[in-house]
Amino acid sequence: MAAVLESFGLVAGDKVVLQGYTCIAVPQAISALGMVPLIVDTDENSLFISPYLLEDTLKNNVVKCVIIQHTFGYLAPESLYNICNKYNVKIIDDCAHLFPGFNSFVKADYLTNNRFYSMEWGKPVPVGIGGFLESENPIISLENMRYDIVKIIKIELQYLGFLLFYRPFFFFKIKKLFSFLIKLGLFEGNNMNIKEFDMSNEEMYIHISPLVKKRYLRELKRKKLLFDNNYDDFRKIIELLHSELPSKMSKCDLHNSIPMRFPVWVNEKKEVLKRASELNIPLGDWYSTTVDPLSIDEVMELGWTKSNLENSINLSEHIVTIPIDKYQNKKSLLRVIEFLQKHVN
Ligand SMILES: Cc1ncc(COP(=O)(O)O)c(C=O)c1O
Repeated sequence: MAAVLESFGLVAGDKVVLQGYTCIAVPQAISALGMVPLIVDTDENSLFISPYLLEDTLKNNVVKCVIIQHTFGYLAPESLYNICNKYNVKIIDDCAHLFPGFNSFVKADYLTNNRFYSMEWGKPVPVGIGGFLESENPIISLENMRYDIVKIIKIELQYLGFLLFYRPFFFFKIKKLFSFLIKLGLFEGNNMNIKEFDMSNEEMYIHISPLVKKRYLRELKRKKLLFDNNYDDFRKIIELLHSELPSKMSKCDLHNSIPMRFPVWVNEKKEVLKRASELNIPLGDWYSTTVDPLSIDEVMELGWTKSNLENSINLSEHIVTIPIDKYQNKKSLLRVIEFLQKHVN
C-alpha cells in the first residue's frame, strides 16, 4: 500500500484518510512514508467509514487519498466513492478481506484499479505471509526487493502445520500455539506490534517467496472453481446466518458480497469468547480494538486521529466473527449459531 501511495506522487506530510475498526498495518503503511494517517469513525453499527464524517473531513482538510476498506469481504458502498470523487481525492481499495476473483460474482464496477489483497492466515486465500497489489501506475519503489531464505523456510513449515492441523474445532488452540511460536521467534508473524514503521525497515523490501506465489495462484483457481459450482450454496449459508442471528449491525449488502467472516453483535464479547474457547467453537475477536492491536490512547498519542471514534470502538467491543472458510459446513455452522443465539440481543 505504501508503494501505491508513492506511485500516486504523494509525499511526507500528505494526509491519507482511513476508517476506524481496522488493523495497524493500514496506518503503518501510511506513516512509514511520513504521511499522516487520519482515522475517521464508522457509521453507527456499520462496518464502513461514515459518509457524513468522510465528507466533513474532506471539506476541512487537504486530503490526498482515501483508503476504502471492504471489511470482512462486504463491499463498501458506492456513496463513499462518489464523495471522494467530488473532492477529487485518490482512492485505494483495501481488499485484504476480499476474495480476489470477487468481481466474477458481484457487481463491483465502482471499485478502483488500485487494490491490495492479503494472503495471510485468516484471509480468503491463506497461503503464507504477504500480499499483492493491482495498480494503475508502475510501482518503481518495489524494484529492490530481496528474498529471505530463513523466512521462506519458516513460512513453508507454518503452512504445512496449518494444512495438517487447522480445523474449526482447534481454532482457539491453533491461534494460541501460533502466537506462542511467533513470540519464541520460531514462526513468522506480521509486524502488527510495531508502531513506528518506516521505509528504512528491511521488512519493507522482502519479496514474497515464489512458493507462496505459486500456491496462491493454484488456490485462487481452485477457490474460483468452487464458487463457480457452489456459489448459490454459499449465499444460502450467509442468508441462514443473517436470518438466525439478527443483530444490531445494519444489514450489509448480502447479494453483493463474498464475506470471509460473518460479524455478530454480542453484549458480552469477552465472556462469549471465553465460553467459545472452552467449547471449541470457532469465533474471531477481530478487530479487538479500533486500530487493532493499539489502544485508543496509543492511537491518540501517535496523532492518527483528531475525532471521536465512538462507533468503531463500539464495534471492537461488541463484534465477534464467524469464520466462513472451506472447513465450515452446515453442521459446524449450526453449532455456532446455536451457541450465539444465547448472546445476541
Ligand atoms: C483491513 C486490512 N487491511 C490490511 C491488512 C494487512 O494485511 P497483511 O496482514 O497481509 O499485511 C489487514 C490485516 O489484517 C487488514 O485487516
